[in-house]
Amino acid sequence: MRHPIWDTRSAMSAPNSSFDPKQVAALDASAIDGMVSDALTAIAEAGDLGALKDVRLSHAGDRSPLSLANREIGALPPAAKAEAGKRIGEARGIIKNALDARTQVLELERDEKVLVEEAVDVTLPVDRAPIGARHPLTTLMERICDVFIAMGYDIAEGPEVESEWVNFDALNVPPDHPARTMQDTFYVGSPDSGVVLRTQTSPIQIRAMLERPLPIYVVAPGRVFRTDELDATHTPVFHQVEGLAVDENITMADLKGTLDHFAAEMFGEGIVTRLRPSYFPFTEPSAELDVQCFVCRGASIGDPEKPCRTCGSEGWIEWGGCGMVNPRVLDAVGIDSSKYRGFAFGMGIERTLMFRNGVTDMRDMVEGDIRFSQAFGVES
Ligand code: DAH
Repeated sequence: MRHPIWDTRSAMSAPNSSFDPKQVAALDASAIDGMVSDALTAIAEAGDLGALKDVRLSHAGDRSPLSLANREIGALPPAAKAEAGKRIGEARGIIKNALDARTQVLELERDEKVLVEEAVDVTLPVDRAPIGARHPLTTLMERICDVFIAMGYDIAEGPEVESEWVNFDALNVPPDHPARTMQDTFYVGSPDSGVVLRTQTSPIQIRAMLERPLPIYVVAPGRVFRTDELDATHTPVFHQVEGLAVDENITMADLKGTLDHFAAEMFGEGIVTRLRPSYFPFTEPSAELDVQCFVCRGASIGDPEKPCRTCGSEGWIEWGGCGMVNPRVLDAVGIDSSKYRGFAFGMGIERTLMFRNGVTDMRDMVEGDIRFSQAFGVES
């Protein structure tokens, strides 16, 4: 069907002495008619939005035949200008409408194609390449380090294969101490090799005191080894964290305050510690370190109505050992024990994780089943 304007008889067909019909042939009704029908064919043939963009450029752009023809209007006699302008305007309108309509169709086609091609089959198993998980012992050790770094401590390290002198003698553990027997300690090579797998992180205290300038404030997490069978509460390879402060005028009050802060950071605001007299060769006086039960906060003590499973209604949970550094240890590493004093503490990380996070079987921490770690969520 032809559009009415294409039937419009051109004013240019009338004789006109003041213009050259050759120059404005582009404004001839049939020429414009041709431009429109070329454009409509190209629009219809554009198979996708990219092709349509090119068509728009060549048939409706600044350099399209219609735009070029439009520039010729100026050369027409005044009487013909309006007619030609109207014709071109209408032709442009037709092309624009056709472009818009085709755009809509092609956009719809593209959307439908995207829906099909990018469809996701939600029934497919997604976890084909699991990204892994950080072990809760690792994140707990990092958390502990952060608490002490915030107090100005350094992180100290030592080797897992340690000299017997550093692991025992320098820590004032006598040669006949039962811990030094092969029932407790892994010796590397023969029992008289003088080399052991460290049984505790306390030898890092010795290394820190030998290597660092005074005063010393260090925390040292690490792996330790003892000849225990793996069961629900023992593992031959486990982790401890050691703390050591050596300075002038250090007192047991500093130790207690530090441990209370540590406990509150680990178990919740207001949780405090309790020291019970004990014995360790490398501290004097020494104490067992208990932490207040962070579940019942002591409310379960002597109240059968409110039993607490976390602390067994004791109100306190055994956490580690601590004390004032034995002057004999300071002497062994050449620190003037008449001028300097220190405090130290150490606790098991597995044990901490057990009561802090309700892990009931030590073997879960050893076996490496990723589902165990994932249950602790994403901790950085
Ligand atoms: N090393 C001790 C152990 O493995 C724990 C310990 C007790 C560490 C008292 C200390 C301390 O630093 O002062 O049982």
